[in-house]
Amino acid sequence: MSLCVLLVSSCAKKSAEDRFIDDLLSRMTLEEKIGQMNQLDPSYESEVKEALIREGRVGSIFNIVDAKEVNRLQRMAVEETRLGIPLVVARDVIHGYHTIYPIPLGQGATWNPELIEQAAQLTAREAIQDGIRWAFSPMVDVAHDPRWGRVAEGYGEDPVLTSTMGAATVRGYQSQGMAACVKHFAGYSVSEGGRDYNTTWIPEVQLRDIYLPPFKAALDAGAMSVMCSFNNMNGFPSSANPHLNIDILRHEWQSDALLVSDWGSGSDLVPHGMCADKKDAALRCINARMEMDMEGNIYTDYLAELIAEGKVKESQIDECVRSVLRLKYRLGLFDNPYVPEDEPTFYSDEALAAAQQTAEESAILLKNDGILPLNIQHPTLNILITGPLADQKKEQLGTWVFDGQPEHSVTPLEVFRSLNISYEPGLTYSRDKNKAGIAKAVAAAKKADVILFFAGEEAILSGEARCRADINLPGAQAEMMDALAATGKPVVMIVMAGRPLTIGKQVEQAAAVLYAFHGGTMAGPALFNILTGQAVPSGKTPITFPKMVGQIPLYYNRHNTGRPSYDPPMLIDSIPIGCPQFSIGQSSYWLETPTEPLFPFGFGLSYTTFEYGSTRIDTLPFREGQGVGYSLSCSITNTGKYDAYEVAQLYTHQKSGYMVRPLKELKGFEKVYIPAGESRTVTFTLTDEQLGYWHESHHDFASKVWFETDSADYEVWIAPDSRCQTTPVQLTL
Ligand code: BGC
Repeated sequence: MSLCVLLVSSCAKKSAEDRFIDDLLSRMTLEEKIGQMNQLDPSYESEVKEALIREGRVGSIFNIVDAKEVNRLQRMAVEETRLGIPLVVARDVIHGYHTIYPIPLGQGATWNPELIEQAAQLTAREAIQDGIRWAFSPMVDVAHDPRWGRVAEGYGEDPVLTSTMGAATVRGYQSQGMAACVKHFAGYSVSEGGRDYNTTWIPEVQLRDIYLPPFKAALDAGAMSVMCSFNNMNGFPSSANPHLNIDILRHEWQSDALLVSDWGSGSDLVPHGMCADKKDAALRCINARMEMDMEGNIYTDYLAELIAEGKVKESQIDECVRSVLRLKYRLGLFDNPYVPEDEPTFYSDEALAAAQQTAEESAILLKNDGILPLNIQHPTLNILITGPLADQKKEQLGTWVFDGQPEHSVTPLEVFRSLNISYEPGLTYSRDKNKAGIAKAVAAAKKADVILFFAGEEAILSGEARCRADINLPGAQAEMMDALAATGKPVVMIVMAGRPLTIGKQVEQAAAVLYAFHGGTMAGPALFNILTGQAVPSGKTPITFPKMVGQIPLYYNRHNTGRPSYDPPMLIDSIPIGCPQFSIGQSSYWLETPTEPLFPFGFGLSYTTFEYGSTRIDTLPFREGQGVGYSLSCSITNTGKYDAYEVAQLYTHQKSGYMVRPLKELKGFEKVYIPAGESRTVTFTLTDEQLGYWHESHHDFASKVWFETDSADYEVWIAPDSRCQTTPVQLTL
């Protein structure tokens, strides 16, 4: 009797969603179930693709960008299959659909999650018109290596910044009815040597402290799906990693998001060297609960056979299909599978304004000797616009742009034409080594009062599989900068790139440096506004800028070592000839450079100046059982002449503990608008949970990890960047 009551009550508790899915699942054949686990790229011949859809052997299709075509295929799924389960159409909508926003790394530089959420909303509104209901973004891979091309696709090196921006993007998409897919789960960015798809080795505590929190944050924000990463982590490619996909995602986090493979990442288990053949790959993936196979065909080809052989249970298939149906149910596809076929509206005024604002806030002023903003009121100011990126409608859009049309881009040159300018590109593209044009640019420079040198990288030099072993300015750009600087005229260097570049020498040569990343459709007006003072720069580095590639990985939240770098270190040329061994040891640095970066994490200048007051701290009256909380506040005064935004950052350092802790850890940030001459108070809450971290013990050949906050002394700063040059407050737990 008690069992019966239990069963009845658990049934009664089932949601409408669960009942719907249970019912549908109970009516599905094995073939239909396996079909739902298949994601197809439409590059197949039409007859093959259509036959598969009509036979119910496709759950999702991607890369179709036309409402009529979506509806045509959807009708086959809904009206011609036995159960009428709709398709879900996916697309790599990464930083905009038609209207292109700055690359995600640039979005990270805005430190403005509201703006990023708005950009995601507007992006979803554009994409949904073409029938796209599932975006393969945000990418929340925390990245420490600017050689890795996909550094462009994430929000930088910090877990808190990445979590905040990733969650904002998820909310933005999903509020409009487009599912987010948080990727790449997990550890993808740690590829050895910054070479894409390469092996990663990540200790469990580091995985949990640094790389997993943004995934958790995106899921907490409601992300409906997760994508496996390509890489092998600690010997297990993610599509076949039960620890990640089952222990952590399902058990610890209790997530019911759909887990999709990356493109063929399941069949990649063969070249990885884990599986002898694709059938084995299918077995390993299903056992690790990879739920949908993107383009790999390993499930369609082998799952039925594996079930017949008793190697896979049908209940394993059921739990995957449940996730697929859940995503479709939550998107409302069972009720409304079709999309209106009206003429879509792209590039609306609202979207263009948001794209411009995002591009303005993503530009980081790295140096300014006072030349900026340009005094365009001056009646005879003669500006030379030069450089290979000044007028590149396509390149300014950045990586992962399939739908944004370059003809809609507004370039810096186009906007500057409203002023008294001359234009000589010098080089025609970023890798151009033909120096013939440089002489012309130099001749024009001699007649100019100021040179705006638009340098950087073409879009194709960053993104997937676009890794660089050398991250200097490509082509003859460095030589061009030498020649421009030699004219003695002030050079303002504007860098449009997909990653931090090693531009130390050019920074010294330039009068000012504005780092703009790839700013998207409206990069031109945004940069014009900043350079001419109609907008005040407020971007801050989302990632450390190294001086030279040999410093990589270089990141602010590193450990101190037992032999911290001393100042000044003995660099290679200062070592006496025949120097005995003993005199150069004892300190952690390179012979060519100290450990300092070119620009630290969180750094960015403004046209105004800010003064930080001292930090005040109060204990918050938290209820018992909720731990301890602190309120930290600080007054910031705008001491300059421009009304401006400042990004105040909260950092902590744990002075001792069970394990070694990083030198600094970002715990929060706030972008605050402060009119010239006025002060604003920023307030942060810091809980003891935020001070916790993953602990690990190794005893008796067993390793165990757990999350805990140590009783220890902490330093806390509210500071303008990760150098934390303000006075810390002390805190004891
Ligand atoms: C990338 C994913 C992307 C997928 C679909 C893969 O190569 O790693 O990020 O979403 O292709 O285009």
